[in-house]
Amino acid sequence: MRKSIQDLQAMKTNNELIVALTAYDYQTASIIDSYCDFILVGDSLGNVFQGEDTTLGVSVDNVIYHGSCVSKGVSNAHLSIDMPFMSYQSSIPDALRNAGRIIKETKAQSVKLEISFDTIPTIQKLGNAGIPVVAHVGLCPQSYNIYGGYKKQGKKKTDQEYIFTLSKEAEQNGASIIVLEGIPDNLASKITKALKIPTIGIGAGKKCDGQILVTEDMLGITPSPHPSFVKNYSNLRGNIKKSVSQYKNEVKKRKFP
Ligand code: KIV
Repeated sequence: MRKSIQDLQAMKTNNELIVALTAYDYQTASIIDSYCDFILVGDSLGNVFQGEDTTLGVSVDNVIYHGSCVSKGVSNAHLSIDMPFMSYQSSIPDALRNAGRIIKETKAQSVKLEISFDTIPTIQKLGNAGIPVVAHVGLCPQSYNIYGGYKKQGKKKTDQEYIFTLSKEAEQNGASIIVLEGIPDNLASKITKALKIPTIGIGAGKKCDGQILVTEDMLGITPSPHPSFVKNYSNLRGNIKKSVSQYKNEVKKRKFP
């Protein structure tokens, strides 16, 4: 059975770390599912799957398509889906309509929102409607044009206070989990200690309640350079190239079939 929000929250209480990865397709989901507690259909599919520079062009239809493929491969982990840029920031009715479609059409169990103080009421309304929210703070890739690139957040004391208070507000307004991206380790540790709900970090140090990476980055499918916090557990890009090159040679020399 898939892990519920309550199962993930109990992991924090029991000091069990949450293992999280992304997936955009059925095969990947079915391979990683039994090792993961949490699988995210991230809007990073814009970069990884669509080859774009940012996540900004990803649509609700895109995440529903990828989400419903992934969903068929997930029977153990919790399945969460990113709400794309401008599918929830514009208004609470838009957020409810789009999150409702995502949950209904994919059978995912929660949605993830890159939050600001403006979207705090949206977390509450989604919760009231029966949709658990994963709140993403720190480096929010949908704010690429505000940052002028993908830049670590929380360098200044005032920014650290902003991220800390925002995380607390998200919890108080019903967020189920917080994703902490690209913030200093000590800030992530402080937020993790201050909150009852679990934190899942990416580029936020060791002290979070769990870790998430983009699967294609940690498997070495996406080309280097990767962000500095990524560890390559495999070099699948290299392995695929080697295999395809061997296939090419064998076809050209009539060695295959
Ligand atoms: O879009 C994504 O894949 C994400 C995770 C890396 C946290 O937001």
